[in-house]
Amino acid sequence: MPVNRPDSDKMMPYQYPNPPEALPELVVPNAIPTDERLWVPQGENVWFRPLCLNVSQGYWMNLLRVRKSGVLSRHRHPQAVHGFVLKGRWRYLEHDWEATEGSYVFEPPGETHTLYVPDDVEEMITYFQVNGVMYYCDPWGQGTGYEDVFTKIDMCRKHCSEVGLGEDYVRQFIR
Ligand SMILES: [Fe+2]
Repeated sequence: MPVNRPDSDKMMPYQYPNPPEALPELVVPNAIPTDERLWVPQGENVWFRPLCLNVSQGYWMNLLRVRKSGVLSRHRHPQAVHGFVLKGRWRYLEHDWEATEGSYVFEPPGETHTLYVPDDVEEMITYFQVNGVMYYCDPWGQGTGYEDVFTKIDMCRKHCSEVGLGEDYVRQFIR
C-alpha cells in the first residue's frame, strides 16, 4: 500500500537520480517519418523504420512498411512477436484471418509464416516488436538466412550512410 502523503507532494518529481547503470530513455518524434530516407529498404516493396534496436535484450521495435504486391519472405519466430497495425491491412499465407488497421497481433514462438499485402491495399504500416531472430526458410523449414538486431543495425548503418544521414545516425536507436 502506498503511504498517504500530503496533497502538496502530488506534483513533486521523484527526488533521486535513476540508478547509474540505467540506460537513457529513448524518444522518437515523428515515429512515422515524412523523411523518406528514414525508411530502410529490406526487400522489394518492403521497408522498416527503426525505433529501438535493443542489443542488451536482443529485440527490435520497428515499423514495417509494405506497399502493393510486397511480400515479406517466409520465416520462423523462435520467440514471440507483438504487432499493431497502424495503416492498411495484411495477411499471412498460412492463416485465414486478416490483420486490419487498429488490430493487435501476437505471434507465438514456433510460428512460421509469410506476410503479404493484398493487391488492393496501397500501403500498410505495422509496428512490430521482434524478439531474437527472424529465421528465413523454405516451405519445408530449411533455413535460408536470418535477421537479428545486429543485422538490422548493419542494414541501418549502411543505408543511412548511403542516403547521407551518416553511419552513426543509427546509434540513437540502440539501447
Ligand atoms: Fe513474422
